[in-house]
Amino acid sequence: MAKKKYERPTIIRHISDLADKFGRAKKLRAKAEIDGIPVRDLVRQYGSPLFVFSEKSIRRSYRDALRSFAVRYPKVQFAWSYKTNYLDAICRIFHQEGSWAEVVSEYEYEMAKRNDISGEKIIYNGPYKPEPVLRSVVHEGVRIHIDHYDELYALERIGAEQDHPIEVGIRVNMDTGIYPSWDRFGFNLDNGEAMNAAQRIQAGGKLKLTGLHAHIGTFVTEASAYKNEAAKLAAFSRAIEKDLGTTVEYIDVGGGFASINTLHEQYSPGTDMNPSIEVYADAITSSILEAGFSPDRLPLLILETGRALIDEAGYLLCTVVGNKRLPNGNRTIIVDAGMNILFTSFWYKHEVMPAEEKGGMFEETVIYGPLCMNIDVIRPSIKFPAMDLGDVLVIHPVGAYNVAQWMQFIRMRPAVVLIGENGDPDIIREAETIDTVKGPERLPDRLRQ
Ligand SMILES: Cc1ncc(COP(=O)(O)O)c(C=O)c1O
Repeated sequence: MAKKKYERPTIIRHISDLADKFGRAKKLRAKAEIDGIPVRDLVRQYGSPLFVFSEKSIRRSYRDALRSFAVRYPKVQFAWSYKTNYLDAICRIFHQEGSWAEVVSEYEYEMAKRNDISGEKIIYNGPYKPEPVLRSVVHEGVRIHIDHYDELYALERIGAEQDHPIEVGIRVNMDTGIYPSWDRFGFNLDNGEAMNAAQRIQAGGKLKLTGLHAHIGTFVTEASAYKNEAAKLAAFSRAIEKDLGTTVEYIDVGGGFASINTLHEQYSPGTDMNPSIEVYADAITSSILEAGFSPDRLPLLILETGRALIDEAGYLLCTVVGNKRLPNGNRTIIVDAGMNILFTSFWYKHEVMPAEEKGGMFEETVIYGPLCMNIDVIRPSIKFPAMDLGDVLVIHPVGAYNVAQWMQFIRMRPAVVLIGENGDPDIIREAETIDTVKGPERLPDRLRQ
């Protein structure tokens, strides 16, 4: 008989509430491999912590989302939200699938250009678009969504330099029944400001309004908000056609669909509670189809979905580097991945799974990161068995925003690996070195001695 593995004994105070409505936590699901590659091997080869993305999962999410919309509405276009994850390899997967690019700065615009995306397939949003940048993107045919009047005037100045009007879209905000409303971006629809902007564009003669855009929030778990948004945008589009005699060619409903993550304030898991992409698709497309457009003049529906398409494809592998008890007796473990690379743990109860099955007693545990910062908490409360030094954990889903918003605070940023559809891993971003971080610094001579 094979020798049984030693399990460290634990003595704990009995806490009666270790069971919740899902029952008692007995076993933690182990995540031993990602797309067929052992997690342990990934860490051995590329180091810990390590971000891992599954190309299979990205393509599956994208195709499912596209299908959900395309079966309901005939003219659909996705535009990949660069800020959600702008690693070139990730963006290029979305572009290969047919996605345009949605950017909110000249820096993101440069990234889209480097990914060979032509101007008419780039949507330029955001509250700050410098005039020289506007001038150059106008010549590339980029779809600019005007955020406010000063931007409108800048575009009119540029329009005056050419012999035909510049095609533009406007961003609008509105009450969709979820609060607080994201009303700092764009022109307000409910108080008439958006119609005034449309009239101003028409009267100026230098611009031509061809698109409407709104982005009502992020991780919006109420599909009804999208139903309201799409209905209002469709009605506005029809009003513009009627009052100004100009055709709105596309309606861009932005992003914001929830991923399968679970917010800290959600009691039940996001996998059970958050609407599926089908539910969002139904809400949006039914509103537009019911708006009274003639069937041969339906506007193109654009979606800037970010997190719902990439979150699930991303994993963060990390290693247990310490065990400790707090003065109140609570168990804590320290891992080598911190808030500097996993800022979404502020918002989400990410799933944390050991790479190998662990037995033993479950206890309420805090999972801390390695930073010398009190806020460096990966999970403030999770039922977890005892861990050994060197145990590998898999944190999921983490594909959205982390590898865009991460920073070299106290620790440098780790490597990112993409597991291809063929099952082979490729590094898509090297782990940083001290040179990556110190490269841009310059030391005045007087400080050299
Ligand atoms: C204008 C715009 N579009 C799309 C997105 C993507 O949003 P999400 O990742 O929530 O789908 C964002 C993110 O905030 C955004 O600001």
